[in-house]
Amino acid sequence: MEKKSLNKSLRKANISKNDDFYTQLTDIEKELKHYKEHFKNKVVFCNCDDPRVSNFFHYFSYNFEELGLKKLITTCYKNQQTDLFSEYKSEKAIYLEYFGDKNQNNIPDIKEIGIKHLKGDGDFRSKECIELLKQSDIVVTNPPFSLFREYVAQLIKYDKKFIILAQQNAISYKEIFKLIKENKFWLGVDNNGTKWFQVPKDYEITTESRKKIEDGKKFFSMGSIVWFTNLDIKKRHEDLILCKTYKEHKEEYPKYDHYDAINVDRVAEFQWITGGLWAFRLHF
Ligand SMILES: C[S@@+](CC[C@H](N)C(=O)[O-])C[C@H]1O[C@@H](n2cnc3c(N)ncnc32)[C@H](O)[C@@H]1O
Repeated sequence: MEKKSLNKSLRKANISKNDDFYTQLTDIEKELKHYKEHFKNKVVFCNCDDPRVSNFFHYFSYNFEELGLKKLITTCYKNQQTDLFSEYKSEKAIYLEYFGDKNQNNIPDIKEIGIKHLKGDGDFRSKECIELLKQSDIVVTNPPFSLFREYVAQLIKYDKKFIILAQQNAISYKEIFKLIKENKFWLGVDNNGTKWFQVPKDYEITTESRKKIEDGKKFFSMGSIVWFTNLDIKKRHEDLILCKTYKEHKEEYPKYDHYDAINVDRVAEFQWITGGLWAFRLHF
């Protein structure tokens, strides 16, 4: 196979796993404004982000002083190039530790952002990335969706606070649902409306309404992508106005045979009747 088409196929293989979508700065800002009080004197880790292109890195480096951060750590995966779309060619990766704006020009300069080399490929599960994870307080990123279960399991294992993006249907994964039920984490704030993610130019989007090109960049709206967090947010303490009552044996909301849960077809209705996630449609 020719090198060019090999790269294209490799990229397609990665994309088909929903791993190559890039978060917009506006979406990050809209969510993170609800967490400002949590960041004071904290070490933030973006562990699926090439610092040279990630908007998560951009957000935290430019807001480092305002948030009162102690340190920002960012690692990327299998990439030493500055292209946004990694072709996963490099077995090595880089990381960065940023300690804030030393020369007080309000810009994170190259001199202040020391790029360091990882020994391995930057996999979030690698020993060296776990060492960086141990040093951090809050993990914030959009991780590879295909590894979401493992990703969350690792955050829980190391008892880390987090704000992360994922597909909404991750709620129905057995392991994830269990953690939500146990109150180990919950939905974030900005989970209504369409989020657009930048994708490689050769990424095929068959539904026109899910595609847009802006400033020569291609964007894809890939369905329900939501924020998850285990940080306390105001929204958790707001009273929900409930206008329906659930009565057992009511045919409208049948009970599952193998799970202590009811099925509610419409998201709006499950909020009315339960005020929570418990009746969310489960997939086994
Ligand atoms: C959905 S993209 C999001 C990228 C970036 N966090 C953002 O939001 O713009 C997921 C990223 O995870 C990276 N990735 C894939 N597998 C990984 C792994 N095992 N360890 C760390 N990063 C990984 C990919 O390179 C890709 O950049």
